[in-house]
Amino acid sequence: MTDFAESIRDLSPKQQELLRNLHSGGQSHLFKDFPQASLESRQTLASQLEALDESYPTGILGYTKRARELLEDSRNGVNPLDGWIPSVPKGEAFELGTTEYQETEAIGMQELGSIGFVLVAGGLGERLGYSGIKIALPTETATMTCYLEYYINYILALQQKYSNGKHLPMCIMTSNDTNDRTIKLLEDNNFFGMKKEQITIVQQGQGVPALTDNDATIAIDPDEPFKVLTKPHGHGDIHELLYRHRVAKKWIEQGIKWLILFQDTNGLAFHTLPLMLGVSKKMDLIMNSLAVPRKAKQAIGGIAKLENKATGETRTINVEYNQLDPLLRATGSPNGDVNDEETGYSPFPGNINQLLFQLDGYHKALERTNGIMPEFVNPKYKDETKTVFKKPTRLECMMQDFPTVLEGEDTKKVGYTSVPADLCFSPVKNATPDGVALQAQGIAPGTAATGERDQYGAFRRMLRSIGCRVEQGDTETHLGIEVDLLPAIVLDPSFLTCPGDLKKRFRQPDKVKISKRSTLIVRGEGVIIDSLELDGAMVIDGKSSEPITINKEVKNEGWIFEKDETSDDEVIKMRGYQITRKETDKGL
Ligand code: UTP
Repeated sequence: MTDFAESIRDLSPKQQELLRNLHSGGQSHLFKDFPQASLESRQTLASQLEALDESYPTGILGYTKRARELLEDSRNGVNPLDGWIPSVPKGEAFELGTTEYQETEAIGMQELGSIGFVLVAGGLGERLGYSGIKIALPTETATMTCYLEYYINYILALQQKYSNGKHLPMCIMTSNDTNDRTIKLLEDNNFFGMKKEQITIVQQGQGVPALTDNDATIAIDPDEPFKVLTKPHGHGDIHELLYRHRVAKKWIEQGIKWLILFQDTNGLAFHTLPLMLGVSKKMDLIMNSLAVPRKAKQAIGGIAKLENKATGETRTINVEYNQLDPLLRATGSPNGDVNDEETGYSPFPGNINQLLFQLDGYHKALERTNGIMPEFVNPKYKDETKTVFKKPTRLECMMQDFPTVLEGEDTKKVGYTSVPADLCFSPVKNATPDGVALQAQGIAPGTAATGERDQYGAFRRMLRSIGCRVEQGDTETHLGIEVDLLPAIVLDPSFLTCPGDLKKRFRQPDKVKISKRSTLIVRGEGVIIDSLELDGAMVIDGKSSEPITINKEVKNEGWIFEKDETSDDEVIKMRGYQITRKETDKGL
């Protein structure tokens, strides 16, 4: 018997089989120290490999086989979009306050009681560099509501108003990096008022093996010789997890009709949800991507309709910005990715990865495909021989690639809803110094301060859209980021779930005036603001549906956003300011 065979004899039969297959399948280097190693060390590696094998649908050997194919294509410069011709996809673009917006939103509002919510929150958040999990960060500092709480508040508000007592379910995708802290955040806060059973947590595997070369040689962790180096497989895992854990199926059985996938730090995520639902209903879309008007060559993916020359197949899908320009040039548009002269924007709307699915059609595709998304590989090569990587690579998949698993007529049921970003998208992804560099290039910084600014700003826009007189505060620079934070307005979902509710809440908009140094926070299903002249700070905290009608003139010292660039508190540190609450009116 060989040394290797001898060295695995005391492992479980299942592990022995897996290790033998890996040994003969090009991964013998993993076991070179086995003959001299302790049982504990060998078991450590064997258990990890077993877990990796189980968490990948075709096992580790299926993974390395696929990786070799994709690495070969990458090395040969094969363009995955070769043979596909892009054209403008179907969808609708809206501006707040227009009749089209209101009519479509009204259609969607009828569906608000039958949505299941899926939060993808497994990302590392390396760019942001926050020590905690991203969903624990405050969305803004006026209320200090964290992202997870905000999302749950919104779901509970819909439940209260639209679902006839039916619980609206939420699923959170976590990863090794975020799972324990996500559960702790929920438990420490009594699930933010949700029933524990309403929430399903699905955890991404521990990542996939990192690969050191074009032969898909599995990398060993540089710090631990009996551990494989793993890397995240990407947010595309969500579809496979929703299938494997039967989440989509259970939700259908509960009468849920729609599924919305959203990201970890977008405080504007839901203002446009009824609008999206309206578009999905009108156009009968299985998948509807929330999009923003995109400037040509802007570094976000464009949603395009692609037609395959050879097979006649069509699909509407996100095309990464760096692929869109060459694809257009190669297929009869010599100018590439350019703006439409009439609109000043690219005809291909920008994907922000908030995806609304019609649940039946979605589930049908999951059943057929097990929810497995196409994978890609993106190695950074050391030189043009393309044989050595700068650092180990891995296969990844993305949630927006779902249209690739649709078939037949269903492929036509994919579209978009485009809305200006200031109403629907302001993620907190970047550390402040990196945000400053992006700002200098005219790109949205995506920092904590801009996320906060955009939340207040979206409410200001909404109020103005119905005729409230909301002044505009000055732009200030904090840690190099330019923000206009005032007036700071937060309308909690219990008070306002979407722009379509505005006129029920502000029955006489022309009698509402908010000065530029003001702060207004409103919570409570029973609150109605009939007339308000606010110059200072006001917090209306309506409990449950207790009726409160506001007719008031308020002038006080208010709240001040004061510079603070020396704080040790991470939340303040990433902003460079904090609020001093001088005087607050309670609205009573
Ligand atoms: P991001 O693009 O924000 O990436 O992910 P990230 O990994 O969180 O952050 P960086 O790149 O390390 O800075 C978009 C969304 O997808 C989720 C994130 O949590 C976020 O909501 N995601 C990403 C996952 O759930 N799993 C993944 O493997 C990757």
